[in-house]
Amino acid sequence: MALSIRFNEIYRETSDAVIGRQIEVRSILTAVGAGKHILLEGPPGTSKSTLLRLIAKTAGIPFYIIEGNIDLTPAKLVGHFNPAKVMADNYRPEYFEKGPLTKAMEKGGILYIEEFNRMPADVSNVLISPMEEGEITIPRYGSVSAVPPFTVIASQNPFDDVGTVRVSRAFMDRICLIKMDYQSEDEEIEIVSARTHSKDSKIIDLAVKLVRETRHHPDIKQGASIRAGIDLVDLYEGMQKLTDEPEQNFLTSARMALSNKIWLNEMAARSADEIIEEIWERYHGEPIVPFTSPKPKKEISDTDENQKKKPAL
Ligand SMILES: Nc1ncnc2c1ncn2[C@@H]1O[C@H](COP(=O)(O)OP(=O)(O)O)[C@@H](O)[C@H]1O
Ligand SMILES: [Mg+2]
Repeated sequence: MALSIRFNEIYRETSDAVIGRQIEVRSILTAVGAGKHILLEGPPGTSKSTLLRLIAKTAGIPFYIIEGNIDLTPAKLVGHFNPAKVMADNYRPEYFEKGPLTKAMEKGGILYIEEFNRMPADVSNVLISPMEEGEITIPRYGSVSAVPPFTVIASQNPFDDVGTVRVSRAFMDRICLIKMDYQSEDEEIEIVSARTHSKDSKIIDLAVKLVRETRHHPDIKQGASIRAGIDLVDLYEGMQKLTDEPEQNFLTSARMALSNKIWLNEMAARSADEIIEEIWERYHGEPIVPFTSPKPKKEISDTDENQKKKPAL
């Protein structure tokens, strides 16, 4: 069934499975249905992959993902002839090993290129003709026509300015921009609740507050995403099962979850751990206890049950 006919159903199903993001789901679906290509601009952890995988799955569209980096070549994107078979038996179309671009074109799929602005310009230029004409000519293989709803979706981190290339005007002119900013505090709390199964609303609130603070700190170039909030709560819950030391466990979990995920300014005089501690201190006046989650057992016995519950630290 054509994508446009099932549009409402796909929209409903996708919206039910993600928290918030209704406008973004609508924007992506509309663009894919209208044959437009998309640039998703947002920092890591802003649900780009989650949304795209979900939309592709719900709509039954094949999904191909590739990471844009300096080592990406046109051959990795388009495909290449198997050298051994060509040596033995000359060039034959069946010896062509298709890359994700060719597969997505032939199957009417989504080609998702993460960190698009990290790949060399000659690779992004290969995309212009498929995006503009819906066609690509591969020497000795032939001409490939894109089957609808073939769509190129590229993502770019707005904070990333080291080792990136400026996306060409020619490419920008052929693509629609969808911005993926961090979500509201309420939605982030909902995401952490859904992804961690923690029942401790106080801890979830605190984790989300801490993560959000990192996004406005003068020493931090790129703050943490909600991934850090999910990690923090999971780690904290795990540690609490071992010892009931809420303050210490929260700070240790915060360091583990956050310090490698924040990106410091070049001029920052302090370490990530020190900054996390400083942010944490602001909330320190109010102790974490009492708990809303069940009290941990005093003694840990190594029964099967406990083994299962042990956190993957
Ligand atoms: N709106 C949301 N609804 C549900 N889960 C979300 C949402 N935003 C982020 N997440 C969760 O946060 C994590 C990071 O999301 P992801 O889609 O991988 O981000 P990105 O691809 O932008 O780096 C995933 O575990 C995802 O499930
Ligand atoms: Mg991703």
